[in-house]
Amino acid sequence: MYRAVNEIDMGTDLEKVLVSKEDIEAKLVELAAEIDRDYAGRDLLIVGVLKGAVMVMADLARALSSNVTMDWMAVSSYGAGTKSSGVVRILKDLDTDIAGRHVLIVEDIIDSGLTLSWLISNLGSRGPASLEVCTLLRKPEAAKVEIDVKYTGFDIPNEFVVGYGLDYAEKYRNLPFVGTLAPHVYGG
Ligand code: XMP
Ligand code: MG
Repeated sequence: MYRAVNEIDMGTDLEKVLVSKEDIEAKLVELAAEIDRDYAGRDLLIVGVLKGAVMVMADLARALSSNVTMDWMAVSSYGAGTKSSGVVRILKDLDTDIAGRHVLIVEDIIDSGLTLSWLISNLGSRGPASLEVCTLLRKPEAAKVEIDVKYTGFDIPNEFVVGYGLDYAEKYRNLPFVGTLAPHVYGG
């Protein structure tokens, strides 16, 4: 087993752990069992949204007991500041033609939901046999659009979080847990 960054290594940068490594692992095993059951007898394509969903994709895929294919998209939200605007640009499209395929979008986090809602209508227009969403984290209080999410890991408060794929200025993606950062990290 590898060592991984721990809470002590984070020093004063870490404010608190919101979802532990153990809780993430247990939840992904649960979700994988649901997905295995729901897609039994069907070929499933899981689509990860770069870069945040890398960890969820890797661990969820290994918890599945059926063979799946994996593809990736990279999108960027246009608009002022760090808030999502819902205007989305594709930086990397799928390599796969999803017409007639059963597609499951795998996300790290749903905040306002604007990016995902755009992605759902974009992929939906390509004629998949089915299109569903799995997200590790969701911030219900931040939702600006209603999205039908079939598989949700954890509902979390409306706070900026890092770890397990999520970054602040490209840092902290490799933390095995999800947590919040101390104000001084943001220059506060
Ligand atoms: P929307 O608002 O469109 O945004 O649902 C989704 C994308 O915004 C990023 N995001 C975060 N990244 N910590 C992060 O590191 C957060 O708390 C956070 N909230 C949103 C993320 O890329 C997500 O896909
Ligand atoms: Mg992201």
